[in-house]
Amino acid sequence: MIFRQLFDSQSSTYTYLIGDEQTGEAALVDPVREQIERDLRLVAELGLRLTWVLETHVHADHVTAAAMLRERTGARTVFGQRGAACADRHVSAGDVILVGTLRVTVLDTPGHTDDSVSYVIGDRVLTGDALTIRGAGRTDFQNGDPRTLYRTITQVLFALGDDTLVYPGHDYKGQTVSTIGEERRHNPRLAGKSEDEFVAIMNGLGLAPPKQIAEAVPANRACGAVPASA
Ligand SMILES: [Fe+2]
Repeated sequence: MIFRQLFDSQSSTYTYLIGDEQTGEAALVDPVREQIERDLRLVAELGLRLTWVLETHVHADHVTAAAMLRERTGARTVFGQRGAACADRHVSAGDVILVGTLRVTVLDTPGHTDDSVSYVIGDRVLTGDALTIRGAGRTDFQNGDPRTLYRTITQVLFALGDDTLVYPGHDYKGQTVSTIGEERRHNPRLAGKSEDEFVAIMNGLGLAPPKQIAEAVPANRACGAVPASA
């Protein structure tokens, strides 16, 4: 498997490229509109053909490149069941997306948003904003719910083996990858915390709204097919 982690420094978003060496098929997970040329160049340089664009959820902090990638490459777009209506395919727990011979298995991981899914590929899980490294996605907008997120993380994600690699949708501190075991032991919002304690932490974060939220959410509900406002 070809696996690349790409970073957008403006929104601190990770995009992932998954490529199947046998068939040349590839998927981009959570591509950022402003990085479309970088990502398409890498796909071409590695001799791959983009067949899927997978979204972990409708993002509030950046606009997806999904619609532009679909237009330019013919790739099909994937969202969770409650995700954007523009998707070519809506997936839920247990669904498998085939990227050539690679199997990407879907987990329902709501809580950050009600449409959030995670993608399991071999020894790793792409968690979007459900579980981040030593953190968890905020739950104060887009039908977020800290109680749901606690159950998602402790019952769905922590049920994966301790050695499972965790690749999040964002990082703000320079961290790139963790493991399920590491997060179970060291995530300050979760390690040794009850559901009520987790809820109190999440409700007390006091974060400012994402800068792009007014533009990003409606744009992403259209797979990013909205002209930039600036
Ligand atoms: Fe998010």
